[in-house]
Amino acid sequence: MHWIAIILTTAVLAAIIYWLLVTTEGVYLGRRVVVWLYDITAHKYDRIKEFDPDAEQFFVIRPLLVRLRRVQNPLVLDVATGTGRLPSFLLDAPTFNGRVVGLDASEKMLRIALVKLQPYGHRASLVQQTADRLPFAYDQFDLVTCLEALEFFPSDTAALQEMVRVLKPGGTLLVTRRKGSEAKLFVGRYRNVAQFEAVLTGLGLEEVHTNPWQQDYDQVFGRKPAKGDNHLTQT
Ligand SMILES: C[S@@+](CC[C@H](N)C(=O)[O-])C[C@H]1O[C@@H](n2cnc3c(N)ncnc32)[C@H](O)[C@@H]1O
Repeated sequence: MHWIAIILTTAVLAAIIYWLLVTTEGVYLGRRVVVWLYDITAHKYDRIKEFDPDAEQFFVIRPLLVRLRRVQNPLVLDVATGTGRLPSFLLDAPTFNGRVVGLDASEKMLRIALVKLQPYGHRASLVQQTADRLPFAYDQFDLVTCLEALEFFPSDTAALQEMVRVLKPGGTLLVTRRKGSEAKLFVGRYRNVAQFEAVLTGLGLEEVHTNPWQQDYDQVFGRKPAKGDNHLTQT
């Protein structure tokens, strides 16, 4: 009996530790743990993710270029840029003639991004900072993106609020919503499509819509109302 209790307790503890550190990547232990986990795994991140350049161009970059087509020299902010996935694929696109700022809290992830983005010179820059206090003035960016990261922030709404703040009126926001088998293991943090879209709408965005993307993520787009947009209210 004694041994069974020890085995059961060990199994439960192991499951809790796995959930805390692997499944939810430290989010219930605080921002420092999340960033530390990315620091210690940065060297193998790209190998694990195996980004397919064609899929990235088709499913991520092309929809963004469509939204940027009328903008001269667009300025883009990628929040939680990691190893520079979005900046590198965007700057690789021949029709993109703008600049990209990548922001992340993990120094080790940014070091890898720095090497990857070197060929683009001044068109790419990197900032080490947390997503809840973006070091930029209001209305700066034509496009703000945040891929596969919101669920690891202490508060997704605080970060989204900051992203909307720095977005230019008329600018586009692209973020991802966690879905799939593990999404509901983010206890108290999971949002279904309607709940997620309601957060963006509540922050003042319009044209909010969700596109299915990968097994674990939807893409969610929104637009910050342009100055002078007419908001007709029914009486
Ligand atoms: C799954 S990676 C996604 C990276 C990149 N967007 C991509 O799609 O490859 C999550 C990233 O979020 C960053 N991160 C986690 N918490 C953060 C926070 N509070 N502020 C800024 N970045 C954070 C991590 O350092 C990591 O680089």
